[in-house]
Amino acid sequence: MIEARMDEIIKIINEANYNYYTLDNPTISDQEYDRYMQELQKLEEKYPHLKRVDSPTQRVGSEVIDEFKKVTHEIPMLSLSNVFNESEIIQFDERIKKVVATPKYVAELKIDGLSVSLKYEKGKLVRAATRGDGIIGEDITHNAKTIKSIPLTINKPLDIEVRGEIYMSKASFEKLNATGHNFANPRNAAAGSVRQLDSKIAATRNLDCFIYHLPDPEDYNIYTHFEALRFMKELGFVTNPNNKKINNIEELLKYIDDWTAKRHTLPYEIDGIVIKVNDLNDQQKLGFTARSPKWATAYKFPAEEVLTKVTDIIFTVGRTGQVTPSANLEPVRVMGSIISRATLHNEDYVVSKDIRVGDIVAIKKAGDVIPEVVKVIKERRTGHEQPFKMATHCPICHHELIKNNEEAAYYCPNDQCPAKKQEKLIHFTSRNAMNIEGFGDRIIEDFFNLGFLCNYDDFYTLNEHKEELMELEGFGEKSINNLLEEIEKSKNNSLERLLFGLSIRHVGAKTADILAKNFLNLDNLIVASFDDVSAIKDIGPIIAKSVTEYFQNDENLKLISRLKNHHVNMVYLKTVTTSITDFTDKTFVLTGTLEQFTREEAKAKIEALGGIVTSSVSKKTDVVIAGLEAGSKLTKAQKLGLTVWDESTFINTLSKY
Ligand code: IVH
Repeated sequence: MIEARMDEIIKIINEANYNYYTLDNPTISDQEYDRYMQELQKLEEKYPHLKRVDSPTQRVGSEVIDEFKKVTHEIPMLSLSNVFNESEIIQFDERIKKVVATPKYVAELKIDGLSVSLKYEKGKLVRAATRGDGIIGEDITHNAKTIKSIPLTINKPLDIEVRGEIYMSKASFEKLNATGHNFANPRNAAAGSVRQLDSKIAATRNLDCFIYHLPDPEDYNIYTHFEALRFMKELGFVTNPNNKKINNIEELLKYIDDWTAKRHTLPYEIDGIVIKVNDLNDQQKLGFTARSPKWATAYKFPAEEVLTKVTDIIFTVGRTGQVTPSANLEPVRVMGSIISRATLHNEDYVVSKDIRVGDIVAIKKAGDVIPEVVKVIKERRTGHEQPFKMATHCPICHHELIKNNEEAAYYCPNDQCPAKKQEKLIHFTSRNAMNIEGFGDRIIEDFFNLGFLCNYDDFYTLNEHKEELMELEGFGEKSINNLLEEIEKSKNNSLERLLFGLSIRHVGAKTADILAKNFLNLDNLIVASFDDVSAIKDIGPIIAKSVTEYFQNDENLKLISRLKNHHVNMVYLKTVTTSITDFTDKTFVLTGTLEQFTREEAKAKIEALGGIVTSSVSKKTDVVIAGLEAGSKLTKAQKLGLTVWDESTFINTLSKY
């Protein structure tokens, strides 16, 4: 009897949620809704054994977790390429037309939140995960269950994954910041909320979710993206009501113009428009690059300009010793985030724009780019502004600065300057350099000040200080182990990462790659002459001089030999291919678990040999590589009579090259 009543209430609440969130058509009053929720909560307290796993009472947040579990995305969560203006949109359309004669699109609002993958088994929500690096994300199921626009149960008992964006409405954001929080923008607030261990906190944050992607449409006889959106809506997901089918470039440009003008009227923030090819067959034909689908792109709204006051001009020291002026600003909101600092690049920039402390300036910020001062509003000058003077000494070590005549920049030449050393260490760990995850600027600063880190090779002796590190506030065995593991992993990096990480002047990531590719190992580069280096295409005399000087310096050579003693790899590991291989222009799908490679590694190998990796199996797939526990994709491949390789066939084929 009681169980039946509980089921009945759950049905009413679920229906009310569906009508309210999915159909935007409320059918019961808030008071009625609350009454049902309270009745259900009371019954669950009294009869805990009858509480259903998909009970809507979980929305109030009852689960607390110890840590975020890692989740592997079977189909990688890709990001989107960007376009910034009309001509780039037209170019995108032209590129598509080379493959698909008359493409039709779906245009969508680009919701400014964080992407999420939701997995349902037999129609029940079993896992929600963040994107992470696209392959490995974090399990946020406990918090996702508190988001009312995410159904706990969908309208069919399916095993299905959908993807979308968790966001915070502008109103909820204002309310949250009014209670003493100071999130810079709704996106940060949403991200901070889903990263709470205690789901009660997320439950109070009033998050929302739009669903916009179905990774496995073939399983449901769906042939267009628009149908996928409708299908997901029917299942109970909230899709954005402004998604629109687009028949040609004119309609696309109009959609973009309309929303550029109207976007501030929306109750949530958007940072652009997403354009997707509608026909899934066409999508297959277009395929993917390593990072994003070729069948979609994101138009990003232009940077917004806002006025504010320069309260100070300060100087910071970078890893090369370059001393850069920055403006401290009266905090203002630009494109949803609070800005209080802008780069002023160098002396020439400040002088040419005549930027003074006290000036009212227009600043702009585009995407994640560092904000810039566009111009000074000279009409607003009062006469109290102070003309700019470039620093003559390093703000940190006070050494006199030097300037090369051919460059605008000033440098601190002191190799012992603590600011320079720290910035170099930070750079060494960064994504495109040695990619040692887990070292934020603060950790490096702390380890540096405590004497654990001074030069790059010190990373590789940190394990000798494990006990001491574990004693530090904010660190435990686990976090130190993670850091040490990351450091260990970095020993296997290909040469170009090390070269970039060493902070050799004028050697950016691209130059490092060119040098590594040409010299193949560090010893070859060390003995190379200026003429050897400058003979390489794309390497000019300034780089060649800087590189050869670096390797003539005794201290640098000693450092390299210490790194060598720690078994840091100094060989170029990428495969160089110009010839046709078994992979060239073929489409591969990876499924199941490979023992020798992560998905990302396998994908990189295939792409390095000219192959293309896509996520779903179709007639167009050339080879399916099936690891352990390969599921529906393998079955489908067999049904279609496709070539299937097991891991050893894959390895054997790779070994040919
Ligand atoms: S589609 C393969 N659609 O924008 C499909 N993304 O810059 C990939 N985003 O990571 C995503 N609104 O977090 C898609 N309507 C929309 C979106 C959207 C916001 C986010 C998403 C993605 C990022 C790419």
